[in-house]
Amino acid sequence: MVAIECQGLTKDFHVGFWRKRPVRALDALELEVAEGEIFGLLGHNGAGKTTTIKLLLRLIFPTSGTARILGRPLGAPDLAARIGYLPENPYFYDYLKCRELVEYYAELAGVPAGERRARAQEALARVGMAEAMEQPLRKCSKGMVQRVGLAQAIVHRPQLAILDEPMSGLDPAGRAEVRDLILELRQQGATVLFSTHILSDAEQICDRVAILKRGRLAFAGPLDAVAGREESEIEIVFRERAGGGLGLVRRETIAAAELWSRLEALRAKQAQIVSVNPARRRLEDLFRAEPAERAAGRGAGQGN
Ligand SMILES: Nc1ncnc2c1ncn2[C@@H]1O[C@H](COP(=O)(O)OP(=O)(O)OP(=O)(O)O)[C@@H](O)[C@H]1O
Ligand SMILES: [Mg+2]
Repeated sequence: MVAIECQGLTKDFHVGFWRKRPVRALDALELEVAEGEIFGLLGHNGAGKTTTIKLLLRLIFPTSGTARILGRPLGAPDLAARIGYLPENPYFYDYLKCRELVEYYAELAGVPAGERRARAQEALARVGMAEAMEQPLRKCSKGMVQRVGLAQAIVHRPQLAILDEPMSGLDPAGRAEVRDLILELRQQGATVLFSTHILSDAEQICDRVAILKRGRLAFAGPLDAVAGREESEIEIVFRERAGGGLGLVRRETIAAAELWSRLEALRAKQAQIVSVNPARRRLEDLFRAEPAERAAGRGAGQGN
């Protein structure tokens, strides 16, 4: 079954104070996420990741287009209990203890009263918060709040977890823990859609990814489909001799077949080879934002 399907999903925001002009945050998105897969939504700041996620959760409404989740139209009443959601900047009522907050979300998702406490404890333990369960949220660090956010997203054992930047605010060990958690969710049969602007977070665990650029889908498919095409290219980083010493660091990408002859040539010139690596140009090209794109992402405004 298909977990998520988007058809022509489009969202315009109206920005500006005196003269409202539409800004297309998402442009005719076509997307399918299969049940049981880990799907990464990639893109730079302002690419449309959060917009896509908010549309799926009906926190905002599309200008045009439709989507279905777990075979149901958006907003179907049974979906709330079947979806877990981590917002981009979780903000929680911070006089509650971590455990109380997660219990509260369990209640919202329809977990029976008698099971809520045990489920909350289990979810918090899973995100590395076993020791801090009884701590009030206002005393939690940013990384701890992020973990509590993850706990509330999984406490009701959702069929589909939608996580907006789940690794943000976490240190490298924390990021690895979140990756493991996502893999565990898949193992238990759940589908996970998560957004990130960090390629390596997605590369390690995603079955498939979509890359958004300025609201448009630039690529969708398995990462190795993009990565596979790069293998034939190699990046050499080196420093040539200049005057009596070494010159600036230079970088070039060549076909793998040319590697040895190119290295010979550099050696003949007594260049210092800094590194030789498979090029990842295509993937990064797909992913890279042009300066204008970043600027567009910064367009401040309100209204929806
Ligand atoms: N409420 C809003 N009003 C006006 N414009 C908005 C609003 N929300 C988002 N936008 C615009 O829509 C575009 C997409 O934003 P979105 O938040 O979806 O990006 P993102 O990919 O999640 O970025 P980030 O990595 O920074 O979280 C941006 O140009 C943004 O300025
Ligand atoms: Mg976002």
